Amino acid sequence: MRARALILLGAPGAGKGTQARGLAQHFGIAHISTGDILRHAVSARTPLGLAAQREMEAGHLVPDRIVNGLVRERLAQPDAARGFVLDGFPRTLAQARYLDRLLRAQGWGRPLVLNLRTDEDILRKRMTGRRTCPVCGEIYNIYFNPPQNDAMCDRECAKLIHRADDHEEVVGQRLAAYEAQTKPLIEYYSRRKLLHHIDGNGKPESVARELYSFLRDP
Ligand code: AP5
Repeated sequence: MRARALILLGAPGAGKGTQARGLAQHFGIAHISTGDILRHAVSARTPLGLAAQREMEAGHLVPDRIVNGLVRERLAQPDAARGFVLDGFPRTLAQARYLDRLLRAQGWGRPLVLNLRTDEDILRKRMTGRRTCPVCGEIYNIYFNPPQNDAMCDRECAKLIHRADDHEEVVGQRLAAYEAQTKPLIEYYSRRKLLHHIDGNGKPESVARELYSFLRDP
């Protein structure tokens, strides 16, 4: 695949992070996750992290100007020159318009936008069931991919973490933010004929198969 700008759209829990990691590895391109960048800033207690933390824990979106600046900086890093997959950005129409300008200014062609469509009951289980190892980064899910021992990483690195925004009450707010602020991007990219839908309901391997087969022959 030639150097390319990929955008993974989808509701929270749709599997964007899981698929973006695989695509980045497979094609040797950068994986840019605004959620990961923000969580890193929160745990490092940087001024930006402190500003974002309250919004994230409440399931609200972080203001556009903060996230746009992060993405601009990240795209300027050398590894992004080979191509990149954006995971969790854009998430509002203002972010999508900003990204259009940024990609134009940096000489990228039209991005390819892949929308993971996943049913709401599955989204809820994927989020509330997620557990992550804070040391090796391995992601488990108590419903779909449980660790061998309830609360520990299988590699025995550490106790698994349940993300603050994966608790039932916040999950509802995240889904509401998606409906109100992110779903309109489907129409935005569809009108520009950049959007391709992928069924996100299956197992990770079958979602990946559909993605790769589309990317081989878009
Ligand atoms: P972010 O980290 O981007 O969270 P999200 O979009 O809500 O996405 P998730 O990480 O929950 O889901 P995902 O689609 O990546 O699925 P995953 O592969 O992890 O953002 C967090 C917060 O940061 C936001 O709420 C907001 O506050 C802020 N933020 C981030 N970007 C922003 C932006 N652009 N603007 C403003 N604010 C922003 O999978 C989920 C679980 O399901 C895992 O357990 C996984 O193992 C499992 N799983 C995945 N795929 C499958 C499958 N096919 N079958 C079975 N299980 C699966």
